[in-house]
Amino acid sequence: MLLGTLLSLAVAVVGTAVPNGQTLTLNGIAYYVSGIPVSVLRGHNASVFASIATEGMDLVPLTVLSPTSNTSLDSLLSDFMRRDDVFQPSFLRAVYFSKSAKVDATAPKSDLAVLESYGNSLVLSDSKVQTTVSNSTLAILTTQLPNGPYFVSKNTGGVFRAYRLYPDDNLAFIQGAISDENGGFLPLPGVTENAMTKDVAVPSRLYYEPTPEHPLAGLRLGVKDIFHVQGLKTSGGSRSYYYLYGTQNVTAPSIQKLLDLGAVFIGKTGTVQFANGDRPTADWVDFHCPFNPRGEGYQSPSGSSSGSGAAIAAYDWLDLAVGSDTGGSMRSPAAVQGIYGNRPSTGAITLDHVLPLSPALDTTGIFARNASLWAHAIQNWYPNMRKNHTSYPRHLLLAGPGWDGQGITPEANRSLSTFVRGVEAFLGSRRTMVDVSQHWRDTNSPTTPSLEEMLYLTYATLTSVDQYNHLATPLFADYKAAHRGRQPFINPGPLARWEWGQANGGNASYEVALRNMTTFRSWWETSGYGQSDAASCSKSLFMSVYSAGTTDYRNQYYDAPGAPPLGFSTGRIAVLGGVPEVVVPVGESPYNSTISLQTEYLPVSVALQMARGCDYVLAELIAGLEEHGVLKPVKTGTRLYL
Ligand SMILES: *[C@@H]1O[C@H](CO)[C@@H](O)[C@H](O)[C@H]1NC(C)=O
Ligand SMILES: *[C@@H]1O[C@H](CO)[C@@H](O)[C@H](O)[C@H]1NC(C)=O
Ligand SMILES: *[C@@H]1O[C@H](CO)[C@@H](O)[C@H](O)[C@H]1NC(C)=O
Ligand SMILES: *[C@@H]1O[C@H](CO)[C@@H](O)[C@H](O)[C@H]1NC(C)=O
Ligand SMILES: *[C@@H]1O[C@H](CO)[C@@H](O)[C@H](O)[C@H]1NC(C)=O
Ligand SMILES: *[C@@H]1O[C@H](CO)[C@@H](O)[C@H](O)[C@H]1NC(C)=O
Ligand SMILES: *[C@@H]1O[C@H](CO)[C@@H](O)[C@H](O)[C@H]1NC(C)=O
Ligand SMILES: *[C@@H]1O[C@H](CO)[C@@H](O)[C@H](O)[C@H]1NC(C)=O
Ligand SMILES: *[C@@H]1O[C@H](CO)[C@@H](O)[C@H](O)[C@H]1NC(C)=O
Ligand SMILES: *[C@@H]1O[C@H](CO)[C@@H](O)[C@H](O)[C@H]1NC(C)=O
Repeated sequence: MLLGTLLSLAVAVVGTAVPNGQTLTLNGIAYYVSGIPVSVLRGHNASVFASIATEGMDLVPLTVLSPTSNTSLDSLLSDFMRRDDVFQPSFLRAVYFSKSAKVDATAPKSDLAVLESYGNSLVLSDSKVQTTVSNSTLAILTTQLPNGPYFVSKNTGGVFRAYRLYPDDNLAFIQGAISDENGGFLPLPGVTENAMTKDVAVPSRLYYEPTPEHPLAGLRLGVKDIFHVQGLKTSGGSRSYYYLYGTQNVTAPSIQKLLDLGAVFIGKTGTVQFANGDRPTADWVDFHCPFNPRGEGYQSPSGSSSGSGAAIAAYDWLDLAVGSDTGGSMRSPAAVQGIYGNRPSTGAITLDHVLPLSPALDTTGIFARNASLWAHAIQNWYPNMRKNHTSYPRHLLLAGPGWDGQGITPEANRSLSTFVRGVEAFLGSRRTMVDVSQHWRDTNSPTTPSLEEMLYLTYATLTSVDQYNHLATPLFADYKAAHRGRQPFINPGPLARWEWGQANGGNASYEVALRNMTTFRSWWETSGYGQSDAASCSKSLFMSVYSAGTTDYRNQYYDAPGAPPLGFSTGRIAVLGGVPEVVVPVGESPYNSTISLQTEYLPVSVALQMARGCDYVLAELIAGLEEHGVLKPVKTGTRLYL
């Protein structure tokens, strides 16, 4: 012990300071400048920056530019302003023309005039470009950089990426992250002032251009904090888990695939503890529940992918967020936040290095604010999808409550009716109302137990026993070993579920639950509404109302959590059938807020489902509905379309 202390002291004494980057403000906008240079500017000296540097500051904003012969500098800069929220004209005070730049040789004055109109007073360039720019200063970047805003150190010539800092006012993130420029990530060390929240840093969008190999290039990505990411700790919504296991050494392959496709990871988002079902606010003991931005801002974000859903609904500086769905953890947040979010066919992509709820049922999906982006991401992400369809499903089936307009507002009913008519026109087929439980009775012998009876305990048993075996047992053992035999704190919800699973048969019941699930799944695929089709992949498009815009205030008191969710409902079909389902926003419903004392609006959302393996055609259909105006992109903030 003493030796250990001495050794660590010795390390501290000989250790040198490690730069953590710094935060600064440019023209009122907060930036983070990482401590890791991505290139070095050589051949100049610090005095060239004298006219633009801030007294006593080493960092100077710089834009790397490479106009091509067919884009004028003027239109290139307009494009920067339109596409990027990190870039601003203050970065143009110093400009570096990179090697490939084609500054208009016949009219160098005009390019200079454009730059000057943006406030430029220093042009750096390598020798080749200098011939066309009479008063540029000779300098060379040791590593070529993509166009965009950077910060350069006057003293060392080190060039750093520019990150804009955004406050996480909705508490959607657990932690912001930046690239370590070496395949891994670092926790964002920069924080500005905010109430309880952290800042999140986003790099310039100009660094990235989509290509066939990188179709998601530059799309900013948040990831639910149950996926391991190299260089960051994983919380799973548990402080005990976060501190016990420390920094993770691997990135979950499902997330790595998104990074390989070009997505830009910017941080970990909040999750219900271990992806269970905590409700705000009393159940969320270890962390505070993220804020749903819709309505007056005090509605539950649902869960368990609460932070991922809230972040997409609240922040236009974020494009995509990954979550997971075992029993509704993607679909419910998508529904109540009025965004696009799916659970895929089970097994669509590996869930290695992801905290498990139930490996038999766990899936991972994506949230986005519009159908085309959501479909683009899904279609590039999952490896196991049938892509050979030649048509869309011919049967449009409507199931579950809500379609008859009972118990919902006239506005919600109108949104649902308009949507169904749009889908009918798109598919060229009329709706059929179906009753799944009745269909089960019709296609089974009279002595077969009802669906409600067979599946009453199935989901509860699979999840509570699986997570007890695969997560709770090793966590308790590891924690005990590290903390003098203590048991870690667990939120009341997951703890009650694990206890319920052990008190209700444990492994023995699990085997029965698995058999019941298999019975349901094979019925759904052969005699139910999940049959496949050679031409359209899925014989039917199966739709249910997922949310009609009813309130779920976050300041409600409930009874203490007990058993896991029991019973059978339409939302369980995708879970137990292993089939793909996506929730989409179709409208808004008004309510008189007991908090704001004003009329507010909440999203109305529908779930669309197809046969197992048909994720690709489902995504294509959703994108097609948006192209035809049946679905619409949504905005961030309180309202979907305003
Ligand atoms: C730095 O560069 C400026 C302008 O290029 C030049 O006038 C000055 O002599 C240089 N200073 C040093 C120390 O090299
Ligand atoms: C610019 O021109 C080149 C060839 O002249 C062409 O390959 C490229 O696509 C053009 N780029 C744009 C943005 O038009
Ligand atoms: C560049 O040179 C021209 C002519 O020599 C001069 O008028 C102009 O002010 C210079 N621009 C800068 C940014 O130094
Ligand atoms: C990461 O690797 C280090 C060194 O091998 C190890 O001590 C640590 O436990 C690993 N962390 C995790 C979370 O596996
Ligand atoms: C969808 O979202 C992406 C990224 O947020 C955006 O670039 C694109 O323009 C949006 N598309 C539509 C149709 O709104
Ligand atoms: C719901 O809307 C449909 C179509 O507009 C209408 O026929 C039906 O009466 C409405 N139902 C209720 C309960 O308002
Ligand atoms: C399995 O199904 C039977 C009826 O067929 C039912 O009695 C039992 O409760 C179910 N058990 C589980 C764990 O799903
Ligand atoms: C239950 O099953 C798991 C494996 O799925 C096993 O590790 C565990 O020991 C079993 N528990 C009991 C009490 O048999
Ligand atoms: C598509 O592939 C499936 C099997 O993977 C096959 O059954 C089906 O006939 C194919 N459909 C078409 C239109 O080729
Ligand atoms: C809101 O309250 C007003 C006045 O009590 C009532 O007329 C109206 O129907 C209510 N609106 C909703 C959506 O409940």
